[in-house]
Amino acid sequence: MADERPGVASGALSPEEKALDLTLRPRTLGEFIGQAANKEQLRIFIEAARNRGDVLDHVLLSGPPGLGKTTLASIIAAELGVNTRATSGPALERQGDLAAILTNLEAGEVLFIDEIHRLPRTVEEILYPAMEDFKIDIIIGRGPGARSVRLELPRYTLIGATTRVGLMTGPLLTRFGVSLRLDYYPVEEMEEIVHRAAGILDIEIDGGGCHEIARRARGTPRVANRLLKRVRDYAEVEADKAVTGDVAVRAMAMLQVDEMGLDVLDQAILGAVIDKFSGGPVGLKTLAAAVGEEPDTLEEVYEPYLMQVGFLKRTPRGRVATPRAFKHLGREYTRNEGETLF
Ligand SMILES: Nc1ncnc2c1ncn2[C@@H]1O[C@H](COP(=O)(O)OP(=O)(O)OP(=O)(O)O)[C@@H](O)[C@H]1O
Ligand SMILES: [Mg+2]
Repeated sequence: MADERPGVASGALSPEEKALDLTLRPRTLGEFIGQAANKEQLRIFIEAARNRGDVLDHVLLSGPPGLGKTTLASIIAAELGVNTRATSGPALERQGDLAAILTNLEAGEVLFIDEIHRLPRTVEEILYPAMEDFKIDIIIGRGPGARSVRLELPRYTLIGATTRVGLMTGPLLTRFGVSLRLDYYPVEEMEEIVHRAAGILDIEIDGGGCHEIARRARGTPRVANRLLKRVRDYAEVEADKAVTGDVAVRAMAMLQVDEMGLDVLDQAILGAVIDKFSGGPVGLKTLAAAVGEEPDTLEEVYEPYLMQVGFLKRTPRGRVATPRAFKHLGREYTRNEGETLF
């Protein structure tokens, strides 16, 4: 279920979506649309590091799934003109897994750790000196004969990516010299992203078509790319190939993606909070069970956008649907007078 959704985290992407991500991935900072403030910082830091002949400081990229963290990581390495070694938090189970990667790095290279918030704590601990002093201490042998050996590492740049910066520890966070947060893209930038992707995929589309897809893509490039492909399918079979505004609107109705870009599951989540739990508050686990999803997926993928558009609030007592959400689903707002929401 989870991997059929447009916005899911990359760990759960289908092979088709992974291939699409790769095809449409911008390769240079210039090709990367939007995120102007983040791009400007990167451009300056990369150029300064290059001019000094030094490595770029460690970079943390955070933000919801599908906004371009992995893309930016590979762009940074390309702009620095260096190789990337890529791994992920959950793949590094033991200290030795990370030690092996670190000691094999070559000077200047980028080490990319995706989902860095899921690094086991014991593994994270060897990252501290590895980031700060380019050294690691490894234990050789067992029992009374065991001894600790200090290894020097080449200077390198760590790039960490996370959808859950709140789960990261203070010691790890403070060791990143550059920390960039990616946020949902405004509609105008989404239009540019759709336009660019259509060009690469050779899809005939007009301004209206771009606009209708862009405004329903939840501010998320990966969602836009996926919707674009489905709308193209629709246009080829049900229209005369070209994606116009009207064709896009009809395709979205078929895909059950509504005016705000909410799909069936988003609507189910809001519907559950409103109809089954009287608008909330309802706990995350209870809500997840009500819609048949994993709590983590709800929290990482679905809720950030519902909160961003002002449909859902997280309160200490649980999730609450806002008056806007009632209105959007065509329900009458029926909250107790005694409850203060805002
Ligand atoms: N700024 C952008 N301009 C154009 N296309 C973009 C941009 N950002 C992302 N994309 C497109 O969206 C796809 C998804 O981006 P990416 O894989 O970098 O997201 P992510 O933040 O790493 O997601 P996850 O958290 O799921 O790993 C890319 O392959 C690319 O096609
Ligand atoms: Mg990624």
